Amino acid sequence: MKRIAVIGAQWGDEGKGKIVNYFARDYKWVIRFSGGANAGHTIYIKGKKYVNHLLPSIDPHSDSKGFLSSGMVIDLEEMLKEVEKMESDFPGIGKRFYIDPEAFITLPWHREQDLLLENMRKKPIGTTGKGIGPTYTDKVSREGLKIYMLQDEGTLFEKLEELYTLKIALFGDKFSMNPKEIFDYLIELRDKLLKLGVNLASSIELMANFKENSLLFEGAQGVMLDLDFGTYPFVTSSTCTAHGVISAGFSTAELDGVFGVIKAYTTRVGSGVFPTEEHASIADIIRERGAEFGATTGRPRRVGWLDLPAIRYAKARSALTHLIVTKGDVLNGLDEIKVCVAYEIDGAERRTPVVSRDLFKAKPVYRTVRGWNSVKDKEFEDYIKLIEEETELSVSYVSYGPGTEEVFER
Ligand code: GDP
Ligand code: IMO
Ligand code: MG
Repeated sequence: MKRIAVIGAQWGDEGKGKIVNYFARDYKWVIRFSGGANAGHTIYIKGKKYVNHLLPSIDPHSDSKGFLSSGMVIDLEEMLKEVEKMESDFPGIGKRFYIDPEAFITLPWHREQDLLLENMRKKPIGTTGKGIGPTYTDKVSREGLKIYMLQDEGTLFEKLEELYTLKIALFGDKFSMNPKEIFDYLIELRDKLLKLGVNLASSIELMANFKENSLLFEGAQGVMLDLDFGTYPFVTSSTCTAHGVISAGFSTAELDGVFGVIKAYTTRVGSGVFPTEEHASIADIIRERGAEFGATTGRPRRVGWLDLPAIRYAKARSALTHLIVTKGDVLNGLDEIKVCVAYEIDGAERRTPVVSRDLFKAKPVYRTVRGWNSVKDKEFEDYIKLIEEETELSVSYVSYGPGTEEVFER
């Protein structure tokens, strides 16, 4: 059975949601395996816009199902909002979502802690404020709450009291809800989600089903935001590479392909190094045309040129087998387009960074290529061929608009 992963190969927002939504009709399961409500995956279903933060981008018109694996951190309030919105348009869809009981819960305390930390930092990361870092911090320091704790109210309350004691000791009396209030809030959300049919099932329970059916793994963020390999500390707190599929019980060796999604240019939200960032007015033009404003926070995205060394790095870090290029249409009508083909690092030219620190020292070496008026033009095809030659990956699909069907296969 076919199994592929679609991941971001830049700094997030490459159009993963749109691509997953396009592929989803051919897959039985769409599996999110990392991150949480920091993600914002924009999809269009019959022309109506949806932004998925936690829900896998399943196709409501097929019988596909969505799984939220143990690698995720789940904000039940956000989840309920998304399921309710989907339910109002597609009654009964809630039953098609499954959460692994091993996943961790993001609490309102985590969202508050996220903002407290950002205010304390000398150099703020520019997080989404969704509580992601603090939830993963509690997971790693063994204070976290797992989804299965919702099934044992006694333990849940005890855990909340323990966690609150620690949080108050570390941050003072800065949180808006006490353990009892959080407990009531969680129970209400749990009951509403269960009433909508959302299932709790581990990847072990589902494995026989997974093995018999096609699987589409939907990455979140992008390789350059990966906790281990991205531009640390300006990264998210989870894995963004395809290797995260391990949290759903698979290895990348069991996949038929790892598709890295890239824009025809580059964007980044939040702080941190961005070698090809453009500060001239062309960046504003691209931002406006490409509607480059965060799908989760609405923040303007920083804009720059295509960065091939970063993509070669993403390929190496995440075992990419193919590329998918989106948003070439946004550059329609530009006379010339700059592409970074190498970096100058410590005075020497290098094609691929070998450690994330290299990104901080990199000065882009640009090549200027001719622009195009339409993605059907020869100049655009030349651009795609340049990407293929320079990355030694084939570009198997090209997206040329936000609509689900605005894709061609090469
Ligand atoms: P994701 O986080 O990777 O799923 O990407 P986002 O949804 O955050 O951002 C991508 C944005 O670009 C969304 O507004 C999409 O609707 C839009 N988009 C996706 N592909 C294309 C494309 O090929 N052309 C244009 N113009 N917009 C696109
Ligand atoms: P999708 O899945 C773009 C960025 C934030 C910040 C850093 C850390 O839509 O591509 P966090 O809230 O995760 O602690 O923030 O990571 N970031 C994203 N940028 N797309 C995303 O998700 C992102 N998720 C987090 O802007 O710089
Ligand atoms: Mg996004």
